[in-house]
Amino acid sequence: MKSVIISLRIKTLSDQKGSFIMLKAICSRKELTVNSYYGCIEDLIGCDQLEKLKEITHHIHTTRFQHCVNVSYYSYLVCRRLRLNARSAARAGLLHDLFYYDRKEYNLCKVKGQLSHSQNHAYIASENARMLTDVSPLEKDMIEKHMWPMTKGRPGYKETYVITIIDKYCAVLEFCVPKLKKMGMAISGKK
Ligand SMILES: [Fe+2]
Ligand SMILES: [Fe+2]
Repeated sequence: MKSVIISLRIKTLSDQKGSFIMLKAICSRKELTVNSYYGCIEDLIGCDQLEKLKEITHHIHTTRFQHCVNVSYYSYLVCRRLRLNARSAARAGLLHDLFYYDRKEYNLCKVKGQLSHSQNHAYIASENARMLTDVSPLEKDMIEKHMWPMTKGRPGYKETYVITIIDKYCAVLEFCVPKLKKMGMAISGKK
């Protein structure tokens, strides 16, 4: 019975995309489409708004889509372990960087009094998330304050503290892991 459910889920995902899709988080071997995590985000994952994030580079070596999956999955795991709201963590994580502008261009054109990119993109992501799905007060807080302490106002929920840490943790992994892999390949190639 379980295998039937799993194959149905994969079929749904492949139908939306036209081909089979693997969904993985950085430094994890787990296929997320067959993980309990997937049930929390399966109504969001194939939507056009998230698909567009696959075309945007994020943290130099990855895409904004992959970064959102990474933050979503690890926030879910940590919140589940801490007996917090893991479902909201998965959803807010997936939507926390749902914006499309270029950070460098924004900073170049920014005028005095305008919000910093750190605050601005979080509010835009929150607004975009709200247009896409129902967003609970907890999820709103997680999205809008994921850049804390660079944003105004302290997190209002424990889950928000989790996402602030996981977002930075994933950024470090996304920047360092490809570089370390490249170094490892270079070293093994020399031997
Ligand atoms: Fe962000
Ligand atoms: Fe982020």
